[in-house]
Amino acid sequence: MYVVFLGAPGAGKGTQASILAQKLGLVHIATGDVLRDAVRRETELGKQAKGFMDRGELVPDSLVVNVVMDRLEQDDAAKGAVLDGFPRNAVQARALDEALAARSSAVDLTVYLDVPEEALMVRLGGRWECSSCRSPYHEVANPPKRSGVCDQCGGVLTQRADDQPETIKRRLQVYFEQTAPLLEYYRDSRVLAKVNGEQPIPKVTEQVLSVVRRAEKG
Ligand code: AP5
Repeated sequence: MYVVFLGAPGAGKGTQASILAQKLGLVHIATGDVLRDAVRRETELGKQAKGFMDRGELVPDSLVVNVVMDRLEQDDAAKGAVLDGFPRNAVQARALDEALAARSSAVDLTVYLDVPEEALMVRLGGRWECSSCRSPYHEVANPPKRSGVCDQCGGVLTQRADDQPETIKRRLQVYFEQTAPLLEYYRDSRVLAKVNGEQPIPKVTEQVLSVVRRAEKG
């Protein structure tokens, strides 16, 4: 099963995609995580992507699309994947459709996490993540058991460089201009399910699982 998570920055894509991938035994492909890792390791991709990410802009398709296509070709993605942060515009959506069609597959479900803009600012401002396993936390909604320490692996929690107020505003603008139109794209192909993302995390997960079960039944 190929599941795409759509939603604004801070809507909870990373949180829910990670839970769903674990529950379904599928790989979780998060382009933001892949790019941040490349920036940290100072690879060629990271060097080229960094400026765009720091400004809250999309990294060019010519850099991102191949990364995802290569990942999808690996054996562990043969039976499906949970995609988080990809596609982010029409070019990427078409590239994904073509890659899946080449293996007689398709996007089975697109989960749109709907969260009002005011709530997004609060979420991103209070977000922390594990510097080691990348598990996401929030100082109010999803705090770690021990302050500053990851529950999953004991790693140190840090804040993301692009979670500054001005960059958050730009990321939201870019989302509404370039990514939100994909809702129509997936609505037209009848795989779109909207989930209210402004509920406690377990409640959102419950509803995500319910739309997944419906999609599995066809
Ligand atoms: P990316 O890492 O994908 O960032 P984003 O889309 O801005 O999304 P976020 O990770 O900020 O939010 P999220 O929806 O995953 O929410 P989360 O679960 O963390 O991309 C970063 C950058 O990389 C982009 O700006 C771009 O430059 C580049 N990039 C990435 N992909 C690209 C692509 N395909 N093409 C081009 N460029 C690309 O939750 C947020 C916070 O809220 C957390 O603290 C969490 O604990 C909390 N939270 C989650 N759910 C709830 C809830 N239900 N209630 C309360 N709090 C909650």
